[in-house]
Amino acid sequence: MTEKKSLRSERWFAPDDFRSFGHRSRAQQMGLRPEEWSGKPIVAILNTWSDINPCHQHFKQRVEDVKRGVLEAGGFPIELPALSLSESYVKPTTMLYRNLLAIEAEELLVSHPVDGAVLMGGCDKTTPGLVMGAISAGLPFIFLPAGPMLRGNWRGKTLGSGSDAFKYWDERRAGEITAKQWDEMEAGIARSYGHCMTMGTASTMTAIAEALGLTLPGASSIPAADSGHIRMASKCGVRIIGMIAEDLTPDRILDENAFDNALTVAMATGCSTNAVIHLIAMARRAGVQLDLEAIDGKSRDVPVIANVRPSGATYLMEDFYYAGGLTGLMSRLGDHLHADCMTVTGQTLGENLENAEIYDDDVIRSLDNPIYREGSIAVLKGNLAPDGCVIKPAACDPKFHVHEGPAMVFDSYPDLKVALDDEKLDITADHVLVLRNAGPKGGPGMPEWGMIPMPKKLLKEGHRDMVRISDARMSGTSFGACVLHVAPESYVGGPLALLKTGDIVRMDVPNRRIDMLVSDEELQKRRAAWKEPPPKFGRGYGWMFLQHIGQADKGADFDYLETAYGPASGEPDI
Ligand code: FES
Ligand code: MG
Repeated sequence: MTEKKSLRSERWFAPDDFRSFGHRSRAQQMGLRPEEWSGKPIVAILNTWSDINPCHQHFKQRVEDVKRGVLEAGGFPIELPALSLSESYVKPTTMLYRNLLAIEAEELLVSHPVDGAVLMGGCDKTTPGLVMGAISAGLPFIFLPAGPMLRGNWRGKTLGSGSDAFKYWDERRAGEITAKQWDEMEAGIARSYGHCMTMGTASTMTAIAEALGLTLPGASSIPAADSGHIRMASKCGVRIIGMIAEDLTPDRILDENAFDNALTVAMATGCSTNAVIHLIAMARRAGVQLDLEAIDGKSRDVPVIANVRPSGATYLMEDFYYAGGLTGLMSRLGDHLHADCMTVTGQTLGENLENAEIYDDDVIRSLDNPIYREGSIAVLKGNLAPDGCVIKPAACDPKFHVHEGPAMVFDSYPDLKVALDDEKLDITADHVLVLRNAGPKGGPGMPEWGMIPMPKKLLKEGHRDMVRISDARMSGTSFGACVLHVAPESYVGGPLALLKTGDIVRMDVPNRRIDMLVSDEELQKRRAAWKEPPPKFGRGYGWMFLQHIGQADKGADFDYLETAYGPASGEPDI
C-alpha cells in the first residue's frame, strides 16, 4: 500500500498565503462554496468536444456523466476543453496536430490545480495525442473512449465507415452506381454520434488504450449511443478518485509488457497501419523502446481473430461489442498476453478478464480459426526504405505479395489526382504508383494519401488493386496493396527521392523486402544531383513542426517532447 500523499491541488488552495487567497476567492467568484472542493481531489476532464467533431458530438453531454461520477466519489471535477481534432474536417491532416494536442494535454494537466485526469477522446489522433501528453504529465489518468457509431445502412446493406465509402466511390468512378444511390449512401453511412465503426484507426487506438490498461475493462467496445456508454462514463469519474488515492500513476501501468500487450491486441484486431506510428510514439513517451522489428515479429506471431471490416468481410464494431468486445477478444489470447500487468482498475489485466466471455465465435474467432493466420502488418526494408515501411498484406490481393513493375512517380498529390483521372494515362495494372513529399516533413504531417486512388482507366478495365508506394499514411479503414510510411521520407532525401518513373521496383512481402532495381552507382549520381525542397512553412506552428518532427519509424513525435530529450521541469512554482 502506498502512503497517502497530500493532494497536489492543495498547493494551490490550502496555504494561508496571498496566492492561495487568490485561488480560493476566484473559486468563490464562480459561485463555488469552499466545502464543495476544499480538501477534495480535483479531477481534470480533458474534453475533445467541438461543434465540428461528429465522432465526439456526445461528449458535450457525456462530460456531465463523468462529473456525476467524480462528485459521487467525493471529488471535484473541472472540465478543460482540448483540441478536438476531427478527422473528417481538419486539414491538411489531423496528424499535423497530434503532437499539438499532446503538448496541450500535458501543459493543461501540469499547469492547473488538478490531481488526476479523465481523458475524453476517440476520433483517430485524439487517443494518442491525449495519452502521449498525459504520460508525460505523469498524473493518474483514465481514458474514456468515445465509442464507435452504429452500423451504417443503405438499402438494407450494412455500411462501414471509410471502407465502404472508398469501395463504392470506385464503383461510382467505374460507372457502376448512380448519383442518386450515392446520395442515399451519404445519408446512411454515419447514423449516430461516435467514431468510425470499422476497425480503423479510432477503434484500433481505443483498443490499444484498453490493452495498455488505461480504460475500464470493455470500455473501448461500447457503442457511443448505448446507455452502457453513459454508465461507463460516470464510472470513469468514480474510478479516477480511487486512482488518485492509490497514486496509480501512468509509470506504474505502462511498462514494456503493457506495450507488448497493446501490440498483441493490435495485431489480433487486424489493426490500422496508423497504430504503428502512434504505438511507437506512446511507448517512447513512457520510456519504452518499441521498434518496427518488434512490430513485424508480433505480426508473424499473432493471428487476426477480430472479424471486423476492413480485415474481416462482414462485421462492424457494434457486432464486435455484442460478441463480447475487447475483453472477449483478450480472453482468447491466453499466453500471448502478460496477465500480470497493472491497469487503471487497480487490478491486473488477468483479473479484469476473469469473467470475459464470447457470444459469437464468428465475430471473435478462436486462435485456431482466425481470419488471417499472420500478417496484420508487415515491415519491409530495402534500398527504397532503409529504415522501413509498412504494408497490410491481409488487406491486398495476394498476387501482389511478390511483385515487380515499373514505377510511375508523382511529387504532388494534386498532380497525381489529375493524372489518375485521365483515361488516356499510359499505365498498366503491373505499374507501381509512387507518391512522395507526403511524409512527416514533406506532407507535412503525413496526410492519409497512401491509398492512392486507382487510375480511372484501370478501374474501367475491371482492376481494383495495384501496388502503391508512398511516405504518407493511409486511413485505417483503407485497403489495397499500399506500401506506407517509407522511412526516411523523400523530403529529407530518403532514397524514395531518387526513384524515377520507369525504374523497376520489386516488392517481396514474404521476405520483407522493397527495392528499386537501380545500381548503386546510378543512385549515387542521382543523390549528388538531389536538392532539398523548400520548406513548406516560414512561420507559426508549421515552421516549428518542421524544425522538430521525427521520422515515422520513430513515432513522428517532436524531438523535444521525447522522454530522452531532457529532464522534466517538475511541479510549477506557485
Ligand atoms: Fe472520427 Fe473516423 S472520422 S474516427
Ligand atoms: Mg481515419
